[in-house]
Amino acid sequence: MCGIVGYTGPREAYPIIIKGLKRLEYRGYDSTGVALQSSTGLKVYKKKGKVAELEESIVGKDLHANVGIGHTRWATHGEPSDRNAHPHQSASGKLAMIHNGIIENYTQLKKELVSKGYEFSSDTDTEVLLNFIEEIKKNNECSLEEAVRVALKRVTGAYVILLLDEDNPDTIIAARKGSPLVIGVGKGEHFLGSDASPMLEYTKEVVYVNDYELAIIKPDELILKNLGNEKITPYVQKLDLELAAIEKGGYEHFMLKEIFEQPQTIFDCLRGRLDAEAGTITMSGIQQYADQIINANRIVMVACGTSWHAGLIAEYIFEELCRINVEVEYASEFRYRNPVINKGDVIIAISQSGETADTLVAIDNAKEKGAIILGVVNVVGSSIARTSHGGAYTHAGPEIGVASTKAFTAQLAVLTMIALKVGYMKGTISQERYMHLLKELNEIPEKVAWTLKQSDAVKAIAEKYKDARDFLYLGRGYNFPVALEGALKLKEISYIHAEGYPAAEMKHGPIALVDKDLPVVFVATKDTYHEKVVSNMQEIKARKGMVISVITEGDEVSTELSNDVMIVPEADEILAPMLSVIPLQLLSYYIGVAKGCDVDKPRNLAKSVTVE
Ligand code: G6P
Repeated sequence: MCGIVGYTGPREAYPIIIKGLKRLEYRGYDSTGVALQSSTGLKVYKKKGKVAELEESIVGKDLHANVGIGHTRWATHGEPSDRNAHPHQSASGKLAMIHNGIIENYTQLKKELVSKGYEFSSDTDTEVLLNFIEEIKKNNECSLEEAVRVALKRVTGAYVILLLDEDNPDTIIAARKGSPLVIGVGKGEHFLGSDASPMLEYTKEVVYVNDYELAIIKPDELILKNLGNEKITPYVQKLDLELAAIEKGGYEHFMLKEIFEQPQTIFDCLRGRLDAEAGTITMSGIQQYADQIINANRIVMVACGTSWHAGLIAEYIFEELCRINVEVEYASEFRYRNPVINKGDVIIAISQSGETADTLVAIDNAKEKGAIILGVVNVVGSSIARTSHGGAYTHAGPEIGVASTKAFTAQLAVLTMIALKVGYMKGTISQERYMHLLKELNEIPEKVAWTLKQSDAVKAIAEKYKDARDFLYLGRGYNFPVALEGALKLKEISYIHAEGYPAAEMKHGPIALVDKDLPVVFVATKDTYHEKVVSNMQEIKARKGMVISVITEGDEVSTELSNDVMIVPEADEILAPMLSVIPLQLLSYYIGVAKGCDVDKPRNLAKSVTVE
């Protein structure tokens, strides 16, 4: 949450920072601000709202500077407003700071500062930390770098901070714990970002800063230290990301682009790993831990949001193919619950961003207790990927729309491959079924492409139901978590209340909601439970509910019972979620657009949740 950008070098800083902030808006868009440092001193411009609103409001101002920092906020402490927007300035006006994270003990620090006469112009924890740093600098008569180090030893919580100091005009001081920070290394210039997107067109050389590290960044110098003031050699890595991957490429929204990318992203995810003819799955980050997985007492999937839904589907798949007990946990609950973790437990952390704070801490805790941690992560080099012992990347490319789409299907593809590999090695799946599933998995990208061709029909359904107040999503077995995901997608994008439920469990409560105005979306592809789901449809019809169904091509019974249908091709039930979720993604997208919602940046949400 919150995006941060920085630049120091010979170029104009402002355009680099603004463009970078636009790319990081997926991390929050409550307010925007920049601090620019030039020979005329420190200039700070900030405003409630999105980056474009700040840009408009400062046309004609003095924006000339070669050093600067910028922030796009997802509010935690203090409502979204101009005064709570970052950057904040210290009491002397000489320091400016941006922050991503939460300073948990800020109340205590604030009390100390208030007793020394400090006054605050915002409600943020950031302004408190900044003045705390300035107070240390003043009292100890030390450098800013030293003051930051001393201050951070007193701080609990998570942060990435970037600071400018009027007395050291070409330098940016940065520090990280728990939130992401990437430094781009150019020729005589440095770039900073919450991810690498702000620096893509300038450099492919990056340094991922680790927790408890502090960076002193000048145009031609990058010094990395730990909080004990010892120097660390920066590990410069090559970035494998192209500019086109983070642009809309002719689509109206990132979300639509990402939905339509899925045949390719699933293909990319399988490529080089799955050989359906030879009957092999090559995943070196899994192979290394194959014995531990095969012999695990249990596997715990830890995740949040849409990634948690991928975990739920994987639970069904792993139990079926590997006969290993699987539990699926919300990371935020798991980390605080003092869970029983034994040596030999395998934890699979599922995360698109690889930065979700709850997931990260949950795996840190489990690692300390001796569990093997495997990451199923999209963002290469992210914190969860680096904390995990092994795992597999999903290779879906940058996902920018706040609501997850292509990352979800790529997670399913990776988790299915892991389950197939483990099940086959363990002998819990027959050769015949294994070969059949490999072949079917290989065909999924094509089947997703076929499903996407039905998008006009889904759009028409969206138009018809867009004014409904509530939706109910129902599914059984592998399609139950798909129902949850469909409901989540609709809530996120269109702000319509939606609930996902197991189709049979619906009789124990939600059926009371059913009347002629309630659209009930059945995820009803042909599988073991299909007849049971059809009975559930009858129950809704009998109560005059409107039935919209996701069905397998040629399913006449469900068509007959449904007011509207969204069709997917036939597939093995284990793989069906990768298809049945597609019309649900499209449905929420088209309803969101029809209602005039900002589908790429839904209100109150952020993509990378680095606060707990
Ligand atoms: C946020 C996003 C969701 C995402 C969830 C987990 O809520 O809006 O799309 O599923 O975080 O994020 P992760 O990056 O860990 O998958």
